[in-house]
Amino acid sequence: MVNAFGGDPESGQPAAKMCRENENSECINHKEMLMDKIDFALDGKVALVTGASRGIGEAIAVSLADYGAQCILVSRKADALQKVVDEISSRGGKAEAVACHVGDLDQINALFARVKDRYGRLDILINNAGTNPYFGEMLGADEGIWDKTFDVNLKGPFFITQHAARLMNDSGGGAIVNVSSINGVKPALLQGIYSMTKAGIISMTKAFAKELAPKNIRVNAILPGLVDTHFSQAIMNNEMIYDYAIKMIPMARHAVPREIAGAVIYLVSDAASFTTGACFVVDGGALA
Ligand SMILES: NC(=O)c1ccc[n+]([C@@H]2O[C@H](COP(=O)([O-])OP(=O)(O)OC[C@H]3O[C@@H](n4cnc5c(N)ncnc54)[C@H](OP(=O)(O)O)[C@@H]3O)[C@@H](O)[C@H]2O)c1
Repeated sequence: MVNAFGGDPESGQPAAKMCRENENSECINHKEMLMDKIDFALDGKVALVTGASRGIGEAIAVSLADYGAQCILVSRKADALQKVVDEISSRGGKAEAVACHVGDLDQINALFARVKDRYGRLDILINNAGTNPYFGEMLGADEGIWDKTFDVNLKGPFFITQHAARLMNDSGGGAIVNVSSINGVKPALLQGIYSMTKAGIISMTKAFAKELAPKNIRVNAILPGLVDTHFSQAIMNNEMIYDYAIKMIPMARHAVPREIAGAVIYLVSDAASFTTGACFVVDGGALA
């Protein structure tokens, strides 16, 4: 098995030497890189997106399908997912809906048994589903809030990644994107436990990136800032908090879900073939 630049993912043998030692002579890899059109196409890829029924996950799923991927859409509610499947079909794409609670390991096992049975492979995973059941001080949080937030935001993505990486390894590689948050590096007031899970996602991304690189599986994270979705309504609908949040954003506005999807398309495509373990911030400059 040889990857795009001649590396061997099974043995971990790195790609063929690039041009540093050989600048003035023939260098096929370098020439190919200069001459080929950068490729964002995802035709023939099988992609699984969690939290695909609305918001950022919906925008990512629609975009992946627009670029040719066959999408498996996952969330708890099959009806809501079916609407996204219909939207993708109306644009000429391919998708199916599978209901699964990502905080429930039995449901995750069943999801991947189905993926293996139906497709026999997985090329792209987007760990996007997330929850924040508690908007308040950490001093007031109980064990139930901790468990729910960590189960859905961190434990589920970990075991989903395990399943996905095994399937990807069987078919020669793949790309994983984990949706974290700028709160993962700069915890937001009243969102402490949620922010801790998003910091965990960043660490998980880097740890898996190192472990899976020899298997030709790239793992990256997206860190969105404020995006107008169902999830962010506690901020969007509170004038005082919203005004404060917007003051922290140099572009002085929130994003719409579509503005996050473009970064994901880049990270899962061959255009990002040398990118793994990266945290891609999409926040209007908030962290700058
Ligand atoms: N919006 C923002 O400002 C913002 C900023 C930074 C990061 N993020 C992150 O972006 C991701 C997507 O959020 P969003 O803003 O698009 O929120 P959203 O519109 O509320 O969508 C959340 C999605 O996750 C699914 N979901 C929730 N709990 C689930 C569970 N237990 N099992 C399976 N699916 C579940 C929901 O579908 P069901 O209800 O059908 O299960 C829905 O599809 C999250 O990880 C969030 O932390 C959002």
